[in-house]
This record gives sequence, C-alpha cells and structure tokens, in this order.
Amino acid sequence: MNRTCQIIIMAAGRGQRMHSNLPKVLHRLGGVPLLTHILRTTEQLDADVFVVTGYQAEAVQAAHANFSVSWVVQAEQLGTAHAVAQVLPHLRPDLPILILNGDVPLIQAATLQSMVAKTNTQGGLGLLVFNYSDPTGLGRILRDEHNQVYGIVEEVDATPEQRTIDEAYTGTMVLRGADLTAWLSQVGRSNQSQEYYLTDLVPIALQNAAPVWSVAANEWAEVQGVNTRSQLADLEREYQYWQANHFMHQGVSFADPNRFDCRGQLQVGHDVFIDVDVITQGSVSLGDGCQIGPFCLLEDCEIGAGSVIAAYSHIQGAQIGDHAKIGPFARLRSGTVLGKHVHIGNFVETKQAVLGEGTKVMHHSYLGDTIIGSRVNIGAGTITCNFDGVHKHQTIIEDEAFIGSDTQLIAPVRVGAKATIAAGTTVSKDVPAQSLAISRVPQRHIDNWQPKSKRPVADS
Ligand code: UD1
Ligand code: CA
Repeated sequence: MNRTCQIIIMAAGRGQRMHSNLPKVLHRLGGVPLLTHILRTTEQLDADVFVVTGYQAEAVQAAHANFSVSWVVQAEQLGTAHAVAQVLPHLRPDLPILILNGDVPLIQAATLQSMVAKTNTQGGLGLLVFNYSDPTGLGRILRDEHNQVYGIVEEVDATPEQRTIDEAYTGTMVLRGADLTAWLSQVGRSNQSQEYYLTDLVPIALQNAAPVWSVAANEWAEVQGVNTRSQLADLEREYQYWQANHFMHQGVSFADPNRFDCRGQLQVGHDVFIDVDVITQGSVSLGDGCQIGPFCLLEDCEIGAGSVIAAYSHIQGAQIGDHAKIGPFARLRSGTVLGKHVHIGNFVETKQAVLGEGTKVMHHSYLGDTIIGSRVNIGAGTITCNFDGVHKHQTIIEDEAFIGSDTQLIAPVRVGAKATIAAGTTVSKDVPAQSLAISRVPQRHIDNWQPKSKRPVADS
C-alpha cells in the first residue's frame, strides 16, 4: 500500500511518576486509555504505525488488539532515542517518520499531517513546540540570536536560566527514515539521567547541515503530556470541556458545560438538554429533543427522540423508545427495551425486560426476564420472581393487562390480554385473558382487640 508516512509511538515506559502498577499509557482520559486516543488519531493518517512497548507489553497490546499496528518490544527502557532505535529495521528510508510520545494523548491528526507535508518540502528535523504557562519537567527549546533552534535541554540538565524558558518540546518530531537511521547512532547518554535522549537529534541534524524547524501547536490540551496523576486530572477537565463544546456545536444545551463527563462515544440529535453532573459512558446515543435530568449515569444505551430522563437515573445497556419518561431514581439494566411513550417511575428496576408502547410502571417495582405488551399498567411494588435459586424464568404480560399493587408474579407465568390482577395477589399460574386473578387470605376481624402493651397484667 502507498503510505504517506510511518509513525512511531513510544509507550514502553512504566510511568514512575504515576506511582501505579498500571502502565501509564493504560491510564484513562475520558474513560479511554491514553494510547487508544493516539491510535484513533493515527488511524486518520495513511501510515504504518509502530508502537514501542516494554513495561507490561502484553497488557498494553491486549488492550489495543483491535488496532492494526506493529508492536515492537524495548526490553530495557534506556531512553527515548533507544526506544526509537528498536524500530529502525522496519523503517522505510524515503518516508517521513513521525515520532510521538505515548503519553501525549490529544495530539491532532491535522497537526501531524501538516508536519508530514512540511518534511516533504523541507526535509531536515521538524519539532512540535508550545509556549507552556507551566513548562516544569519539559525539555526547553534553545534558540540562538537568529531565533534558530539549536538544542533541547531536559529540565534535569538545564541551567537555572534555561529553566526560565517557557517554550518547550511537546514530544512530537518528524524526519525522513534515512536521516533518522544515520543520526540515531550518534546519540550518546552523557547526561544527568544517563539515558539516550531523542532530543539530542537537534544538534546532530545541525552538524549534518540539515535544517531544524519548529511548528507551534495551537492549544495546550493538544500537547499536554501526562507524567503525574495531577496532570492527568487537569487534562481530563480540559478534555471534558472540549467535548462539551463539540456537542454544543451539534445542538446540545448544557446547564453547565463544566459539569458534564463523556467517557466514550456519544451521538446526539438536535435540541438535546443535559442538566448538571451527567455522565455518559461507553457508546450512548440521544435522539432529538431528549432531556437528561441532573445526576444521571447513562452507559451503553440508546434514548429515543423526545424522551425525558429525570434526576438520579442509572441506565445501562438499555434501549429506550421515543417520548418515554424515565425516573427520577430509575435503574434500567441490560436487555431493557422500552417502546414509545413508556413511563418508568421512581425506584423501578428492569433487566432483560421488553415493555410495549404506552406501558406504565410508576413506582417501586422489579421487572426481570419479562415481556410486557402495550398499554399495560403495572402497580406499585410489583415484582417478577424470576429466579428460583438455580434458573431464571420468564414472565409474559399481554396487552392492556392491569397488574394491581404489590403483586408477585412467580415465573414462568403468563398474564393474558386485558386481565386484571387484584392488589396483593401472588400469581403462580397463568391468568386467562380478560379474567380477574385474586389470591388473598380473606380479611377477618377480632373484636375488642387490646394491643399487648395495654392488656391488664394477670394476678400472680
Ligand atoms: C520527553 C522529552 C521532553 C519533552 C516531553 C514532552 C526526551 C528525552 N524528553 O520527556 O523533551 O518536553 O517528552 O512530553 O525525549 N519511553 C519509552 N522508552 C524509554 C523511555 C521513554 O518508550 O526508554 C516512552 C515513555 O513511555 C513515554 C515517552 O517515551 O510515553 C516519553 O517518555 P518520558 O519519560 O515521559 O519523557 P519526558 O520526561 O516526558
Ligand atoms: Ca512524558
């Protein structure tokens, strides 16, 4: 295949400063591992992608099994130049090679494309740089009196004066394969960390009479690296605000765009309203005109147009039809499929439950392994007894049945169309259509009853 460039992503480090047993690139931003963000971006370029792994290489690879990339192991982490050296045998001399840090997750495809284009016309070594308001820990860009870059100095090696420089290297560079191969062998490790620094390519390129040029990134978030948990937390807030902005451009209103978290993929229609402290997780879609109340958690679900989800509802693995009303305090679990105009009220839990159009379950119910028809009314406190301790069984309730309050339906059982179940009934056998089922101990009265505490004490 005709490739426009090759990409190396360095992801072998443990991430000491995270103080974690999890490799740094598996820490999550917006619910997605750092490396996944980068791979989704590099997928947009027509490139061969090589990922250098080392610390827990298998775990990093397993988490990205769906991506078509080549994995190269760096057994010992001797520095960024050493990481890149592991990929040399696979590189093509004629193509631009983009080198990315695995811990800079929000790098944008357009930036990478423009760097590749510039390499094709100018050659040499291209650096992506940024003026950070806090460049602590980063490699500072050294420029001469003609503003020409002549080096990158790591913070540990920098003089106090060099540490006052705000312009820093972002961890993204580009150069041709043949140049990389020729120059990399000249990188030594005589620095404070005794590591092979990739940033040493700057003076080496200049010694080889190659131009060193820089491109400035537009936004801080694009080039913010994650070395510590506090940097990850800062970037998370920025990323969430980015996403909220993106959804506002698609027609969503937020009560407060700073109080919304999307961890995964969200599809939105027009005129969606999202109140404060809503979290979406996994793959979620919200139809036109949906309203999501405050403090809702929506996971892997589909919500139809015009539906209203009231406060504190937890929806997971459910499909909700148009114009439904859910909550407050509803819990819809996997396999829940609701037709149009279904109403689910407070403290109702559903699992593997299919409810037809216009059916209402307003209060305190558990509906599991059940198929319910249209326009059925389920009274407060109705429970499907679906589990016998070993197996699950199904309850079927046909169209327009009326289930009185505090009914237990002992599955497997079927309630026919337009049947009525009297309140307090334990339904243990099928109920014919249009009949009344009632199972109650007849009420009786004992006259002149005295509560125990008020009875006269017997003489001894
Ligand atoms: C690096 C740059 C620094 C730049 C910063 C931007 C070097 C020497 N320094 O510093 O100039 O400002 O990124 O974020 O390049 N890695 C390996 N193998 C190794 C060492 C590192 O794969 O042997 C990987 C790490 O897993 C990480 C990336 O390379 O994903 C960068 O390494 P890190 O140690 O975080 O470099 P910084 O100190 O951030
Ligand atoms: Ca880093």
